[in-house]
Amino acid sequence: MLSSKRLENILAKKLKVNSGQVLPTLKRGDVARYFPSSDERIIEYDIDAMVFEERSPFQKIQILHSKTLGNMLVLDELQNIAESDLIYTETLMCRGTENYEDKEICILGGGDGALLYELLKENPKYVVMLEIDELVMQACNKYLNTICGGVLEKRNGKNYDIIVGDCVQYMKKYISEHRKFDYVFGDLTDIPISGTPVGEIWDFIRTILESSFKILKSDGKFLTHGNGTACTESLELFEDQLRTLRPKVKFTTSKAFVPSFMEEWQFYQVSLA
Ligand SMILES: C[S@@+](CC[C@H](N)C(=O)[O-])C[C@H]1O[C@@H](n2cnc3c(N)ncnc32)[C@H](O)[C@@H]1O
Repeated sequence: MLSSKRLENILAKKLKVNSGQVLPTLKRGDVARYFPSSDERIIEYDIDAMVFEERSPFQKIQILHSKTLGNMLVLDELQNIAESDLIYTETLMCRGTENYEDKEICILGGGDGALLYELLKENPKYVVMLEIDELVMQACNKYLNTICGGVLEKRNGKNYDIIVGDCVQYMKKYISEHRKFDYVFGDLTDIPISGTPVGEIWDFIRTILESSFKILKSDGKFLTHGNGTACTESLELFEDQLRTLRPKVKFTTSKAFVPSFMEEWQFYQVSLA
């Protein structure tokens, strides 16, 4: 009889596996456990339960429970944020470097509520969050309460409003009203939902960038997440979009290892040159 060790050795030789490398077993089942990294490696998560799953008019929304990361928000099969990811929000908002006291802030997207929750702790004058998907907010309010506190419970508070709608349309309205903010946050899905048919995804991202600068004060800042630092091509494409903006902008970057992404992520701070 063939021992399992001998069988493994034969397979390893046939598959040209390096010595010492263990052959992984793909686990099938009802609950998704494999998600791609930014550079398209397959990452296995320790998912043990599906907490929520529904399809909104915009996307497939799942909240999955990971034994080590807590509840995770997955939109259209892509990991967005988990209970473990305070570092993500703190790096996006440059906590400790930017001063939000008495500032006016606009969040594009941000439906998990984490950014709004953390910004409100810094005594801003006013925050408006423009999120297209009501169902994302309902799910996060219920199952990601540790990262959003109670901010998604109601559509407004003492110094904030949450508006359900396409951020591009609301930015158009603000532009026509000459309304200006100190900070605009791009906290949209990696591929934002376009309400109007547009060509390339990069065209749409440039539209978001152009509109953001039209609603920013001259000394205002646009802060956003970019991509995994391993995904250099995509980061370069984003930086190309920044370079085509008029008036000209300058940018700095910051990085953090995000637990639920299991990789290092790059963030951008963009202002007028
Ligand atoms: C969950 S948040 C945060 C993103 C996340 N931290 C990540 O990893 O990319 C992204 C939100 O952007 C919203 N969104 C996408 N396109 C939008 C648009 N055109 N207007 C407003 N919200 C939009 C999505 O509904 C989603 O809730």
